[in-house]
Amino acid sequence: MSASIGLIGLGVMGANLALNIAENGYTVAVFNRTLERTAEFMESADELAGQFVPTQSLEDLVAALPAPRTIILMVPAGAAVDAQMQALVPMLEPGDLLLDCGNADFNQTQRRLAELTDTGIGWVGVGVSGGSEGARFGPSIMVGCTAAEYERVSPVLTAIAAQFDGKPCCARLGTDGAGHFVKTLHNGIEYADMQMLAEAYGIMRDGLGWSAPKIGEVFARWNDGVLNAYLVEITAEVLKVHDDTSGGPLVDVIADRAGQKGTGTWSAIEAQKLGQPATTVEAAVSARCVSSMSALRTALSGVYASDEGASVSASDDTIEALELALLAGRLCAYSQGFTAIAAASEQHQWGVPLAEVAEIWRAGCIIRSRLLDDMASAFRDGVEFDNLLTHDHFTPQMTVAVPALRQIVGASVAAGLPIPALSAALAWFDGIRQARGTANLIQAQRDFFGSHSFERLDEAGSFHGPW
Ligand code: 6PG
Repeated sequence: MSASIGLIGLGVMGANLALNIAENGYTVAVFNRTLERTAEFMESADELAGQFVPTQSLEDLVAALPAPRTIILMVPAGAAVDAQMQALVPMLEPGDLLLDCGNADFNQTQRRLAELTDTGIGWVGVGVSGGSEGARFGPSIMVGCTAAEYERVSPVLTAIAAQFDGKPCCARLGTDGAGHFVKTLHNGIEYADMQMLAEAYGIMRDGLGWSAPKIGEVFARWNDGVLNAYLVEITAEVLKVHDDTSGGPLVDVIADRAGQKGTGTWSAIEAQKLGQPATTVEAAVSARCVSSMSALRTALSGVYASDEGASVSASDDTIEALELALLAGRLCAYSQGFTAIAAASEQHQWGVPLAEVAEIWRAGCIIRSRLLDDMASAFRDGVEFDNLLTHDHFTPQMTVAVPALRQIVGASVAAGLPIPALSAALAWFDGIRQARGTANLIQAQRDFFGSHSFERLDEAGSFHGPW
């Protein structure tokens, strides 16, 4: 039996994506490195099993697909992707398309594409967001490829994507690495948002002494307002869960060491390389690293006592300020993320449609939030603006929210509560809105020790000081 599309890698994401594709009427040839997993997958496919062609080798998979083939790779980022590519290429023909649907470093996507130039085989970088549920029932899909390639792959990708107001959350965002770049920045924003939510949780847990379920109620309330977002919704859910073993909230017995697989770091590095630092993302990545240093944290907590004197006051005002502080922090994170995407788009001549990025992030993906619809409208307005924060939809929001962010950052710093992402957002905002900065002194220092020269405000040209 022949299939219409191939899929390699039946881990949780791959298996769910395969089921989603099958449910949308396609016949899928599947292959997994360990054959037991393929058997297990076929058993779990139930009534969809008839739409799969399980294969025992890459040769079988290729043979099950009439040319021109489309094969999805859903294998761990890095060496495994290269290994699959090298194994597959000799079996494929010009016109065949390989879709890397994992989280890839866009530089690697560009390199792989370049390596395939003479083969006539296409390499399509596809960012897929939404976790395992999204993969099964509708992810947000960010594609990088040529228009002709997109014409070939868009029917299946739009069929399996999440929908917002009846519109599929799938778009071609440019050529080569554009899809993976945008997915990377999506994850950077995801890191920033998660960290800021964790900081708000920390303020309520350690500053106010509140229990997890009580904090969960606050997040649930916030989810009905301006902060409405999938991550806020699941935070409320998580905080409510009881653990039978300990007899208390489950979150209280989860080790405070966060894992990470690299996309946050890529995102921070790429933004820096573009000269458009995503400081809230950087702070979130660093906070995850600090979280993993639990032995050192424990040792230092014994050496440096916390500031017992100061605390955050437990009033309605504090909770309202916290909500607004998170809004301001989120707007800063999005602003940094979109700015980095715009800069990359210019550098690589991708022509990333920012409005469409915001649109396809409105459903299916992990950072879906009410704000994204407003951002989509802002970008659609076609108004020329350097930054989301200069758009008149967001300036009133920031004007109200920044004083709250300042209040929360000030109180937390005084109380010794770590809030790296919220304070990075505020520090970035204070810098970016300062017309007369302090880098005049840095220019003088650079010229002093290295004759790097400086420009003057009152005269054109390049100058040196008399030092
Ligand atoms: C998504 C997620 C997904 C995955 C990340 C998490 O958009 O569906 O971002 O890609 O959850 O890899 O990354 P960490 O393991 O680094 O937190």
